[in-house]
Amino acid sequence: MQKNKPDYYNDLDKVYLRIWELFKLGLKDRNLPFHIPVFICGNKDKSNGRIVVLRGVDENEKKIWFHSDIRSNKIKILKSNAKAVLLFYDKNEKIQLRVSGYTKINYQNHVSQKSWGNTAHLSRQCYLGDKAPGTKVSIPTSGLTTEVDNLKYTKEESEIGYKNFCVIETYIESIEWLYLAAKGHRRAYFNLNKKKLEKKWLIP
Ligand SMILES: Cc1cc2nc3c(=O)[nH]c(=O)nc-3n(C[C@H](O)[C@H](O)[C@H](O)COP(=O)(O)O)c2cc1C
Repeated sequence: MQKNKPDYYNDLDKVYLRIWELFKLGLKDRNLPFHIPVFICGNKDKSNGRIVVLRGVDENEKKIWFHSDIRSNKIKILKSNAKAVLLFYDKNEKIQLRVSGYTKINYQNHVSQKSWGNTAHLSRQCYLGDKAPGTKVSIPTSGLTTEVDNLKYTKEESEIGYKNFCVIETYIESIEWLYLAAKGHRRAYFNLNKKKLEKKWLIP
């Protein structure tokens, strides 16, 4: 828990560095709130948010990514509008981030192949159902066989899930940072789309 003001409190460069630090810490530590942002996308008619697990961070390419099922509803939405937002909040850091960018769906390419290869076979469980996520069913069910439900499958058997697996990268265009603390709020905006990073303070 922070008692004093952090060293980035009045320093935009330090704020920006801290943002990438928080992404990287969230990537590694499943107990940190930055591990599970809300991914929001939409089209003309509807928008929706859902929790995802942060699976990769690339500061040089300014992108972050998560894994998903190619049959899920968000894929249809992203195909009609590739723009999306990832929303992060860390209560201890007192930081909210609104990360906006455009997405790329990696399916059956070298990116998805690499991530799938690094995915432990028991973690592949959610890609082993016959039915697409969100399919209407007449009984309550996980959609998995009893064996898969009980994690009784081999690595070889888990390979079939690759056909449902994709990696959704978000190429970051801008980040809105909010530090909300009783001792004085701060808000900042970073445009990563320019040749030189554009950074400015906003009224919180
Ligand atoms: C803790 C947690 C982690 C999740 N991680 C992911 C994830 O990494 N990728 C994903 O597609 N869905 C993940 N989900 C499920 C989504 O929140 C969502 O229910 C699912 O992707 C279907 O969303 P859609 O119908 O909007 O496509 C996670 C849910 C929870 C509660």
